Amino acid sequence: MEKALISPSILVADFARLGEDVADVQSRGIDYLHIDVMDGAFVPNISFGPDVMKSLNGTATVPYDVHLMIEDPDRYIEKFVTDNTEFITVHYEACSDLAATLEHIHSLGVNAGVSIKPGTEPEVLDDYLKDIDLILVMSVEPGFGGQKFMDSSLPKIEYYKNKREELGLDYVIEVDGGVGSGNAHLVRDAGVDIIVAGSAVFKAADRTAEIRAIKGE
Ligand code: DX5
Ligand code: ZN
Repeated sequence: MEKALISPSILVADFARLGEDVADVQSRGIDYLHIDVMDGAFVPNISFGPDVMKSLNGTATVPYDVHLMIEDPDRYIEKFVTDNTEFITVHYEACSDLAATLEHIHSLGVNAGVSIKPGTEPEVLDDYLKDIDLILVMSVEPGFGGQKFMDSSLPKIEYYKNKREELGLDYVIEVDGGVGSGNAHLVRDAGVDIIVAGSAVFKAADRTAEIRAIKGE
């Protein structure tokens, strides 16, 4: 059975006790913290900014996996760079010059990710694959946690897995939205490396069991 890493999204954590909630999930075997940044322009919701992420610097024991759902992300990329930032992911649909944005992220010493929305075809990234460290396939419309998983994300995961083998590249493939223990096998079998899960983890009765089931352990 295929296994995957897990990156719980703090978007669905208890903001009134964010540090404790993050410390709790970290004690249960997670691999990254998924930081869902929303600007109310690229997506119809506003979440939080870099200072909220940095408030976790003393708590975080796993790397930050930053997902920028914001227009023109070059304006803010640098603010999310910390010693603990592993990935900064921008949206293909939000960039006017993706090659330059990828170069910008790399110039700051951080791995560069690109995300595509459900309505975006996977081929749009073909010319950038050699410069991408992570591809984030959205399995919901970006903007909110707790939505239903979209099966249309599965052939995209397979597309990028096949492309990686064909071209001899080493980017990781991540999926985000509506994934839990009931359907994680679908994305694992399709070839995903990292699974983002917000509601499934933070609202679970048994968080450890949910995390292990999502990872395929
Ligand atoms: C959507 C967000 C959510 C979040 C995970 O823009 O990116 O997908 O990370 O939310 P759940 O796991 O609750 O769908
Ligand atoms: Zn996300």
